Amino acid sequence: MLQLLTFLVEKLSLVSNFKLFESSWLDGKDHELPAQRGPLPPPRRGDLLEVPRTIFTHYGIYLGDNKVAHLIPDILPVLTKDEKLISSVITNKRLILGCMYKAATVRVDTLEDFAYGCNILVNRTDKLMKAQAFPNEVVARRAEKLMGAIPYSLLWNNCEHFVTYCRYGSAASRQTEKFCECLKSIIRDQRSVIVTGLLGIISIVCFGMAPSTTLPTILVPFTLWMAG
Ligand SMILES: *[C@@H]1O[C@H](CO)[C@@H](O)[C@H](O)[C@H]1NC(C)=O
Repeated sequence: MLQLLTFLVEKLSLVSNFKLFESSWLDGKDHELPAQRGPLPPPRRGDLLEVPRTIFTHYGIYLGDNKVAHLIPDILPVLTKDEKLISSVITNKRLILGCMYKAATVRVDTLEDFAYGCNILVNRTDKLMKAQAFPNEVVARRAEKLMGAIPYSLLWNNCEHFVTYCRYGSAASRQTEKFCECLKSIIRDQRSVIVTGLLGIISIVCFGMAPSTTLPTILVPFTLWMAG
């Protein structure tokens, strides 16, 4: 099951460049380093680094000395106390299991491992967030204080929450907000009542009248209708 999941995520990231967080960290060494893609000014300690991917954007806080603090799902800290094992580069399996078990760590990696061949944007969120950023040294100290294992939630506690907490003092995620907006617009769109109703009727036709098909057919459109 896990093998299959890992396989699927790997294939998916190959086909559509959809890298679920750092899903291919295992072979990160073969990729171009960001420095080779034109001259980038070195970031300063406390800067907010952003690595845009196709769907998700990964975030970290630069600590200076080629090191980046970032939050990433990881199962290993739940299973072992072996610091050396935990600090090794995160594999797909660790990441996926971490996601499912809702465990993550705030850890330090090199700039190259963090960027994973993508361009790094610096401080871009300063313009987008309404809050004023702390001085860079404060930002870096806040990040360093949070090192270690923490609970993870894709929506409510992700890598973006970590960096906004460090830099602006309040945990926020524009990716989560966008997702919620999208969900809200689906719920508020009355056509989804019709769509779910039709899907329910099709499932009744295909699988017969049973509580498992009839109940959702009535309850899902009804709930959507009331929530809309
Ligand atoms: C990022 O912002 C800080 C101030 O908050 C500034 O000191 C630093 O130079 C900025 N870094 C870049 C690369 O623009």
